[in-house]
Amino acid sequence: MPNGMRLGLQALVWDESEANMSYRPKILAFAGSTRKDSFNKKLVAVVAQAARAAGADVNLIDLKEFGLPVYDGDDEAAHGLPDNARKLKQLFLAHDGLLISSPEYNGSYPGGLKNVFDWVSRPVAGGKPLAEFEGKVCAIMAASPGALGGMRMLPILRLLLSGLLVTVIPEQLALGTAKEAFNEDGTIKDAAKHKSAAALGEKVAMMITRLKS
Ligand code: FNR
Repeated sequence: MPNGMRLGLQALVWDESEANMSYRPKILAFAGSTRKDSFNKKLVAVVAQAARAAGADVNLIDLKEFGLPVYDGDDEAAHGLPDNARKLKQLFLAHDGLLISSPEYNGSYPGGLKNVFDWVSRPVAGGKPLAEFEGKVCAIMAASPGALGGMRMLPILRLLLSGLLVTVIPEQLALGTAKEAFNEDGTIKDAAKHKSAAALGEKVAMMITRLKS
């Protein structure tokens, strides 16, 4: 085996003793729904909590508070980005990872969620294109009162995020019968599903720590 190849293989072996495992991942978490009692808000809160327990700083935001208008090129040409689109761009830039729980609307993600990505992706003077998204480690999930939990939407959301250069982890969760799925304290009644949700947050936190170490 050529020497370079041997070195390459060695480099793949993870040595935790040499790593700076004290890095605190910064994760931005939100639901693709703005509804007050959103099941997706509940689900992403479970995952956010697990990421916190794994050592991350998690900023759980409500997209409703940003109230972005529907993207319109004429508005952008006349007025530039709305203040809240700029704020969201800064928030994305300031975080290493993303946790996104989205409803499925007619087999896809909600237009409101796409609208947020469209505004955030718009370039501003001096900014690197897609710097708000590139290399962010992301877990995606869905919750729905239906039996399938929004699973038809997940590959479409994955594709959208990949196009924005986000690194979406392979694990994902579609939580069905969401109306009955949560306890009063916000935990998921089904212990196995709660564990799967928590694992998403832990994995994103762990991956960021490793990437930054
Ligand atoms: C839905 N809903 C829905 N559910 C689903 O599992 N598959 C689907 O394709 C759709 N389509 C759909 C379209 C539209 C326009 C609406 C408003 C709703 C139901 C949806 O899952 C339900 O309203 C969830 O409660 C929405 O998520 P939040 O708001 O609870 O997070």
